[in-house]
Amino acid sequence: MKVLVIGGAGYIGSHVTREFLDRGHEVTVFDNLSSGLRENLFPEAVFIHGDILRYEQLTSAMRERGGMEAAVYLAAFKAVGESMVKPEKYSVNNITGAMNLLNAASETGLKYIIFSSSAAVYGSPAYLPIDEKHPTNPENYYGFTKLEIERFLAWYDRLKGIRYASLRYFNAAGYDVEGRIKGLEQNPANLLPVIMEAARGMREELRVFGDDYDTPDGTCIRDYIHVSDLAIAHALALEYIAKNGESLTVNLGSETGSSVQEVLETARRLTGQPIPSRVVGRRPGDPAKLTASAALARELLGWKARHSDLETLIKTSWEVYRNVPLGK
Ligand code: UD1
Repeated sequence: MKVLVIGGAGYIGSHVTREFLDRGHEVTVFDNLSSGLRENLFPEAVFIHGDILRYEQLTSAMRERGGMEAAVYLAAFKAVGESMVKPEKYSVNNITGAMNLLNAASETGLKYIIFSSSAAVYGSPAYLPIDEKHPTNPENYYGFTKLEIERFLAWYDRLKGIRYASLRYFNAAGYDVEGRIKGLEQNPANLLPVIMEAARGMREELRVFGDDYDTPDGTCIRDYIHVSDLAIAHALALEYIAKNGESLTVNLGSETGSSVQEVLETARRLTGQPIPSRVVGRRPGDPAKLTASAALARELLGWKARHSDLETLIKTSWEVYRNVPLGK
């Protein structure tokens, strides 16, 4: 299929692009390189340097190569804390960007959209593991933008026949299991890249946000899902909506919970680095424990996390970070 990967030079986007290329799709990457990197591009994919906020650039990209059939939409801001202090930035990039995408799809006849949604749409868990029937009640503005976009997608499905897959990621982590992607995330705030930077001496320490939670070791538990597993799910989701002519919304998680302390200790063991850490206060809005039920993705897509054990998550990340020249 002819697929436009919007945000394809980014961390998750580059893994998705690699997976679609491996499956024989004709991939065009559309990215403004605000956080994406040229080193994440592949020669087999056409690259368009464009911005989702420039409507004409988007429609013209969708008309390239005889017309795109599908778009994977990953170009969004994702820092939860920042979204609470700079909601305007998230409104423009995430919401306006999504509206441009939907209108451009409608105008150019693009049929399928794969959307990067988030577990943040659920808010504090009422029960665990979280399945798709769990109430949606985002507690941060980032999660709110994701849920609103899901609602727009549902309307455009109904009114315009654009089929979509909304993929609610839990905590994305790790690097390509075959070592083909090496671009570092810029100014990361997520746990794994922060630990890797501390391991490599690129930052002083890991600040552990609280060790007084109601969990066995007192630190928060999350469901870490390998980006290569996520990438496979995108490809399967596109196959599903194209084959069945119906949209879907599914969780993507490993169904395993790991605490901050466990991740840190495993990283120390596997990297052989001391990784200095210091417990600081809780980060506002962090639930003690989040784990996914991925039963629906298993049932509908035949998908299951295969690379998401802590060892693989950390080893594939360290393979990238340990080769970063110091001083970078
Ligand atoms: C959040 C969202 C998730 C979203 C992701 C995108 C919620 C509930 N979850 O995940 O849906 O996809 O952001 O960025 O909104 N930690 C530290 N020190 C650090 C960094 C993190 O202790 O320097 C801890 C956090 O307190 C947390 C865990 O590590 O317990 C994971 O944090 P993080 O990687 O930021 O992801 P979430 O906040 O879980």
